Amino acid sequence: MRPKVVVHAQISLDGCIKGFDDTGVYYRLAAQFNAEMVLFGSNTVSAAAEYFNPPETEKDFIKPVIDPNDSRPFAIVPDSRGKLWNLHLFRNMEYVKDVIILVSKTTPQTYLNYLKERNYDFIICGEDHVDYRKAFEILYNQYNCRLIRTDSGGILTNILISQGLVDEISLVVSPCLVGNSNPSLFRSLSLQDKIQLKLVCSEIIDDNYLSLIYKIV
Ligand SMILES: NC(=O)c1ccc[n+]([C@@H]2O[C@H](COP(=O)([O-])OP(=O)(O)OC[C@H]3O[C@@H](n4cnc5c(N)ncnc54)[C@H](OP(=O)(O)O)[C@@H]3O)[C@@H](O)[C@H]2O)c1
Repeated sequence: MRPKVVVHAQISLDGCIKGFDDTGVYYRLAAQFNAEMVLFGSNTVSAAAEYFNPPETEKDFIKPVIDPNDSRPFAIVPDSRGKLWNLHLFRNMEYVKDVIILVSKTTPQTYLNYLKERNYDFIICGEDHVDYRKAFEILYNQYNCRLIRTDSGGILTNILISQGLVDEISLVVSPCLVGNSNPSLFRSLSLQDKIQLKLVCSEIIDDNYLSLIYKIV
């Protein structure tokens, strides 16, 4: 068994995932899913760290004590290449309880040592890149996770869709055209067969945004 997986993405009317002035509606709707875990791509995490990068302190080596009534999600990040060396930024964000890293059998030992020294949970699954199907089963069985929401760019989103690991796609269509200097959400989607969708929600938000939720049938 694996958790239900909802891809949640903000797109411009021309289908791009970057270039917005405002992400407020996206995060407001994201919170409504009440997911136990949020899956971020490693490029998404490194892009966020470009703007905010305080140095590590002693406290960042200690695993946070989690209150059982804490309803915030865990952040899950696949990082098989071991490139995220500033996870304290994420651990300290007020929106998440803690960070769990997905790695593979080829992840450098120096990176696993970095994770161990700072008491991050990590799951080793997959030979080269992460095997998401296995990782999700482990999150279901060992962490009791029943719902994962994504907050990732096109690469990870499309891998999950093409591997048949997505149950719903939630799009926040935003009132702008950003042009082809920005990446489009489905630019790398490679499919053997067409995927049929069923519209389960369409709602105008704040007059100008459209929330669309499609179920994969
Ligand atoms: N509009 C939105 O809703 C939204 C939401 C979030 C982010 N973003 C934007 O999206 C951008 C990043 O998007 P992105 O598409 O470049 O990256 P991404 O979605 O962050 O995807 C990168 C992830 O895919 C994994 N991956 C790559 N190749 C793989 C493979 N062959 N097999 C398994 N996993 C693989 C990587 O894992 P490894 O590290 O293990 O290779 C990495 O964790 C950021 O600039 C951010 O601002 C937009």
